[in-house]
Amino acid sequence: MANLLEVSNISLHYGAIKALDNVSISVEENEVVTVLGANGAGKTSLLRAISGLGKLSGGTIYYKGKKLSDNLPYTLAGMGIAHVPEGRHVFATLTVRENLLLGMYGVKRYRPGSSLKSKEDRVYELFPILKERKNQLAGTLSGGEQQMLALGRALVSSPSLLLLDEPSLGLAPIIVQEIFDLIRKIHIEERVAILLVEQNARKALKAASKGYILELGKIVMEGEAKKLAEDERVRHAYLGGRAGAC
Ligand SMILES: Nc1ncnc2c1ncn2[C@@H]1O[C@H](COP(=O)(O)OP(=O)(O)O)[C@@H](O)[C@H]1O
Ligand SMILES: [Mg+2]
Repeated sequence: MANLLEVSNISLHYGAIKALDNVSISVEENEVVTVLGANGAGKTSLLRAISGLGKLSGGTIYYKGKKLSDNLPYTLAGMGIAHVPEGRHVFATLTVRENLLLGMYGVKRYRPGSSLKSKEDRVYELFPILKERKNQLAGTLSGGEQQMLALGRALVSSPSLLLLDEPSLGLAPIIVQEIFDLIRKIHIEERVAILLVEQNARKALKAASKGYILELGKIVMEGEAKKLAEDERVRHAYLGGRAGAC
């Protein structure tokens, strides 16, 4: 079976800074893949490159067999790619419901049959707290609730591929666990492939079937998530301990 997403040898520069250097990754249909890396490793740049928000200086990206490099970001939602950016970026002065409506923007054109109402109800089913808060301004939500809203806004476009940029960043440990549980639920119930970039290696490797390690813009290791979690070098650099520590 062809991969859903095939990123081949991409490079991306910011002026003289090389943020991605010959990076290749792949995601299969309905698979959860994680890319781990420290702050500044290039994780956000990778997701932005896939979303068409960053200009490649080399390499190609294929999604469902189609070359993506020339696509404009706003067309991607219609193609089934939804990006949940680092820091959530919900619209603080709009209500929860209005934020969800914006997630549909650009999608109806491509999928005339899709019903917003059922999508919205599905989001409230997944995140009941958002239903309680649907007429509240997004800026008044807690960090965890804003992350749920950002996930919900991505889901109303019925994506085949969800790009998640550090969903656990800045959240209290108990909320982090809740968000990872929700990611798992979304993957299973919505049958969506997920590309999850994270600094929280322990939780991300538990959620994923395959993982990559990104260091200074380069993939330095890749493999089955379970194997990476047991690897001595990964444990030392990303899991803060020896085998048996988690
Ligand atoms: N807009 C930008 N202009 C210049 N350099 C940037 C910009 N965004 C990111 N960088 C640099 O690119 C590298 C990768 O950054 P980023 O992709 O944000 O990493 P991560 O998400 O893993 O923290 C870093 O060295 C960062 O400083
Ligand atoms: Mg980042």
